[in-house]
Amino acid sequence: MSSETNKNRTIRFKIKRQDAPDSPSYWDEFDAPCPPGANVISCLLWIAANPTTTTGRQATPVAWDCNCLEEVCGACTMVINGRARQSCSALIDELQKEDPVVTLEPMSKFPVVRDLVVDRSRIFNALTKVKAWVPVDGMHAMGPGPTETPQQQETRYALSRCMSCGCCLEACPQYLIDNEFIGAHAISQARYFNAHATGASLAGNRLDALEGPGGITDCGNAQNCVKVCPKEIPLTESIADIGRQTTVHAIEKFFTGK
Ligand code: SF4
Ligand code: SF4
Ligand code: FES
Repeated sequence: MSSETNKNRTIRFKIKRQDAPDSPSYWDEFDAPCPPGANVISCLLWIAANPTTTTGRQATPVAWDCNCLEEVCGACTMVINGRARQSCSALIDELQKEDPVVTLEPMSKFPVVRDLVVDRSRIFNALTKVKAWVPVDGMHAMGPGPTETPQQQETRYALSRCMSCGCCLEACPQYLIDNEFIGAHAISQARYFNAHATGASLAGNRLDALEGPGGITDCGNAQNCVKVCPKEIPLTESIADIGRQTTVHAIEKFFTGK
């Protein structure tokens, strides 16, 4: 495509819509001008301001979620051309190599609030279950924090990049909209905080949470999660590591009775 054609191009968007949590879904199509370098969100902004479908019907503006616009918050995650990814970093130029029509759907593993907006509370509730934080008691100065070797920093930095976007959960065959599986992101965050010198004080609680129903044993090890994580988090390594930790923890509990 010449750059002049590219500059004036119009792209068709096929968008799965839903007016309310309990309403049936339907599809609308819109044509939007997409200059070079446009991302999905910039096209959605144009569509929201010009919500006339390709059949000439005046539709309601499409709803979606976003925040950081730099692939850090995960809020804008949706299914784009069949794959869950962030709409702020999904470039039309790249999507055009897959399909001339850009298809947008809400993630299927979370309840739809409206159109492309889903309720991701379950992701954050899972992080609460595994106490995905370092306990700090009070606001007083506590001196320098614990030191970490460069190797530990490297391992934990990779895990720290999780943005709770839900791509790994959307791709996971064990994670269903109506079951209890906690998900790869929470398992990986438990590993992240267990590996922190202060965070390790809650390691037993995290492992207790992961031993129960919906925990690590519900992972079928299909490894779909690691393939789709936009932050390339080593999820299968985390699942294996937490699998070992929960086994050791269970044996310790058996012998100590605690
Ligand atoms: S592990 Fe990756 S895919 Fe899963 S929520 Fe975190 S960043 Fe998203
Ligand atoms: S390894 Fe498979 S079953 Fe386990 S969390 Fe990842 S995608 Fe889901
Ligand atoms: S808006 Fe934050 S990741 Fe896209």
